[in-house]
Amino acid sequence: MQKPTLTLSKKQIALFHQEGYLVVPVVITLEELERLREIFNHLFASKAGREDGNQYDLAGTDKDDQEAVLPQIVNPSKYAPELETADIRDNMHAIARQLLGPEATSQSDHAIMKPPEVGAVTPWHQDEAYWAPDLEYNSISIWVPLQEVTLENGCMHFIPGSHKLEVAAHRPIGQDSRIHGLEAEQVDASQAVACPVTAGGATIHHCRTLHYAGPNHTNHPRLAYINVFATSPKQRVISRDFYWKDSRQTLRDERRRAAGTKPTSDGRQIGS
Ligand code: NI
Repeated sequence: MQKPTLTLSKKQIALFHQEGYLVVPVVITLEELERLREIFNHLFASKAGREDGNQYDLAGTDKDDQEAVLPQIVNPSKYAPELETADIRDNMHAIARQLLGPEATSQSDHAIMKPPEVGAVTPWHQDEAYWAPDLEYNSISIWVPLQEVTLENGCMHFIPGSHKLEVAAHRPIGQDSRIHGLEAEQVDASQAVACPVTAGGATIHHCRTLHYAGPNHTNHPRLAYINVFATSPKQRVISRDFYWKDSRQTLRDERRRAAGTKPTSDGRQIGS
């Protein structure tokens, strides 16, 4: 078994800052990958966190009698505490410190499943569009697929250099205010790069990098475990208007309010 790659080369670090994303071939052992896949298959199958508003459909209206097309679970270690001591957490933190600086800390984690055959597209978006408009972020997401990812099962695509742009106008997916997930308006994807990854690898993207993942056409679930890292956000001199966040009325939010689930940290949620 190859040891996890914890040290990025100077070339990899420079490439990340230039392009806004990076593919890292090895971040996790195949043994741990298998263990995480079992944990997350169980969390999704048992609908862990649904009553708290922590498991919901990113791309659908999330009704109880509907099959989720893009289920997501946030704060999964609340339901599977063994995640907190997984080696992958240390590996990701080591990578984050190299890309963001020594003060980088873990902000949140979540997992996304694309169910076999019905797993929906994750439309083009910038993660920062989900966050606080009055803060300036220095943040990355480390996206660890829990099996090989290909064009057929929904690997990531990135637009090189898009992390240097402002946050684009977003809207709820399909302009349906009942849907939690966001999509950017007017994306020129002609320069997009698809990033298939073999099992054990990861992709990393900056919080402003435009990214997309295709549907899952295979008959196996596509799972990804994602950790968001950042240094302390700074107050912006001029705030922004992220009006698309206010336009949503989701069943997930209703469940979260009913359960009294607190948003992460100080309410300025980093994560989706
Ligand atoms: Ni994203």
